[in-house]
Amino acid sequence: MLVRLDFSTTLSLLLLLLLVGSSRAQVGVNWGTQVSHPLHAPSVVKMLQKNSFTRVKMFDTDASVLHALAGSNIEVMVGIPNTMLETLSSSMHAARNWVESNVTWYLKYPKRRVDIRYVAVGEEPLHDVRLDAVIGAVKNIRAALDKQTRTRDIKTTIPFSAGIVTSNSFTPSTGNFIRPDEMKTILELLSDSKSPFTVNIHPFISSVNDPSFPLDFAFFDGDFPFQQDQGNNYTNAFDAIFDTVVSALKQAGFPDMPIIVGGTGWPTDCNLQANPQNAKRFNQGLVKRIESSRGTPLRPGKLHAYIFSLVDEDRKKPGYERHWGIFQYDGTRKYDLTLLGARELENVPDVEYMPARWCVSNDATDGLEQRINATCQQVDCSPLLEGGSCNFLTVSERASYAFNSNYQLNDQATSSCDPEFGRVVRDDPSHGNCRFMRQIVVNSAERERLFLLHKLYIY
Ligand SMILES: *[C@@H]1O[C@H](CO)[C@@H](O)[C@H](O)[C@H]1NC(C)=O
Ligand SMILES: *[C@@H]1O[C@H](CO)[C@@H](O)[C@H](O)[C@H]1NC(C)=O
Ligand SMILES: *[C@@H]1O[C@H](CO)[C@@H](O)[C@H](O)[C@H]1NC(C)=O
Repeated sequence: MLVRLDFSTTLSLLLLLLLVGSSRAQVGVNWGTQVSHPLHAPSVVKMLQKNSFTRVKMFDTDASVLHALAGSNIEVMVGIPNTMLETLSSSMHAARNWVESNVTWYLKYPKRRVDIRYVAVGEEPLHDVRLDAVIGAVKNIRAALDKQTRTRDIKTTIPFSAGIVTSNSFTPSTGNFIRPDEMKTILELLSDSKSPFTVNIHPFISSVNDPSFPLDFAFFDGDFPFQQDQGNNYTNAFDAIFDTVVSALKQAGFPDMPIIVGGTGWPTDCNLQANPQNAKRFNQGLVKRIESSRGTPLRPGKLHAYIFSLVDEDRKKPGYERHWGIFQYDGTRKYDLTLLGARELENVPDVEYMPARWCVSNDATDGLEQRINATCQQVDCSPLLEGGSCNFLTVSERASYAFNSNYQLNDQATSSCDPEFGRVVRDDPSHGNCRFMRQIVVNSAERERLFLLHKLYIY
């Protein structure tokens, strides 16, 4: 017998499918905290919610970030810094304490619960931690999580760099691990607890390291098949790298292991290809890809990925490393990004700035270059270099850029505006895309609380 669906039933079924489809597209983002002046974490969480980011990956367990995420329904991957892996590997006691204070504690109060789904053991740890220590740390953290009902379902994973896989003349179907025996041990461990494999994919870095890399291959929006492989046409590096990982897992005997892209994105300064246009092009392509649920040729379906990253981090190594944020240090967006629908990207709300004051060079010129050089030992002057947003400035403007960076880094302390070569002005000296920063106020309530705590301990 035929089942007849009338028009309205069909329509509502369609609507339902659309709703279910869109509510399941989950865009994640990396929230790093290597900054001198952190944004107020609860305001950042408001922004994440307004923009429909539903997943956050952390590199640590920063308490103010986790407290802000409590009760937010945002899924969280917390991270263990590489420096802790040796200890966690050699001491079950340390692993239990880590889980107790950095995971279990945040699950205790139902209304203030943090939705922790994953623990990332290290970040690209094989660069600087012994393999044994990585394995030991995963084992101990896993055992500690398995000990309690509340934490048993949390998955452990290890974010690897895509450099751990290789292939024959870049064909994804021939993907393999560079050190297959070592990886086998790790993969068995992950597989035992049904945990995912995590990999960071950075076409930007491929393009920086390889001058022959075709720039369009780095983006999602082209249709030129740069790589053809067993009937699949690869029009972008992301798919090719991802599928190389799929093949490597298959080769190692784990064809169904879920894959998470721990970090992928594009910086906006300090390299010829690092600018807001390219960053928007890459990240918008990524978001569309996540929302389409189309996956890659060898792994069709939903893509679980975290954009790298949320905000610029001024405590990182100078150069483009500091400029991967979708948002500037002050929580303003660098470019628009359409997430889930046609809305525009919302800035972090309620950001408080220091007074409108900048430090620029006065007209002294004798010894100015030397002074610029000396100041640039203290602050990041890489935007002044080739490929930087301030590369076009005159000598005196370069001095201003350096002096102001130092002044703002020091919360506009009078003594930090070069007494011999600088002066304070009230008009923003920014030149187009070359932005002279104005520092933000680190949340005063937070500051007061820390101040009181400090007093309590000292007196
Ligand atoms: C919790 O994690 C942080 C790093 O994110 C670490 O400094 C701290 O020692 C951890 N707590 C315990 C008890 O291991
Ligand atoms: C791949 O590209 C080639 C050459 O452009 C084309 O002939 C072929 O149909 C494409 N295959 C797929 C599966 O799109
Ligand atoms: C300043 O640094 C640049 C680059 O390192 C160098 O070429 C230049 O000679 C230095 N100038 C002075 C006056 O020290």
